[in-house]
Amino acid sequence: SVMRDIMGIDILERQLQKRMGIRKVIVVPGDSDQSPWVKSELGQATAHSMKNLLKSKNIIAVTGGSTMAAVAEMLTPDFGEKDLLFVPARGGIGEDVKNQANTICAIMADNTNSRHRVFYVPDQVSTEVYKSFIKEPLIYEVWNLVKSASMVLHGIGDAIIMAERRNTSQEDLHKILEGKAVGEAFGYYFNEAGEIVHKVLTIGLQMDDLKNVGDVIAVAGGASKAKAIRAI
Ligand code: G3H
Repeated sequence: SVMRDIMGIDILERQLQKRMGIRKVIVVPGDSDQSPWVKSELGQATAHSMKNLLKSKNIIAVTGGSTMAAVAEMLTPDFGEKDLLFVPARGGIGEDVKNQANTICAIMADNTNSRHRVFYVPDQVSTEVYKSFIKEPLIYEVWNLVKSASMVLHGIGDAIIMAERRNTSQEDLHKILEGKAVGEAFGYYFNEAGEIVHKVLTIGLQMDDLKNVGDVIAVAGGASKAKAIRAI
């Protein structure tokens, strides 16, 4: 639009695309740390991008967090003209129900007249629990759907905030701090150089799975997340 031209946003987007080697960057003006409505604008921009990318049949894996919740608010019934299935890319974290992947998928399905599945597992599990959970037919079925997603929508977290949300043990917290982690996504903690310094065992989507996904959309905002966004 003319406004975006005047503000130089198009140029900024192209520069970021080139510098970060990302297929497409969309910049939304404002700082969502300061102004809550900017998060809604992020949701709007994401909905717009999704619409352009969605084909006739899609499995969409979605993580949790307040940013993904803002995306869910912006999806509309016309999305339902495509055959969409929303699946949670991860299990539950913390106590906040509205920001869980399960809840967000349910709202996305509701707002688009589509289907969704639930994943009633904790995000972080022990090796023993992981092995037995994955044998549970219902969990295995959703897990398989997550692995075959054609689109992934994910938030980007500040490393320390995410460690707190996860009730991380002293030992792991030490590792995260020692490794100077700044960002988190899918249970992976990254330092400023983008190296993985810690990884929690989760039943959800893994970094490796992204290789098979056609469209991966990361959504994040706020000056406080600058380092996290760059790291990821
Ligand atoms: O996975 C990333 C975090 O869930 C981001 O959470 O959108 O509430 O900052 P947030």
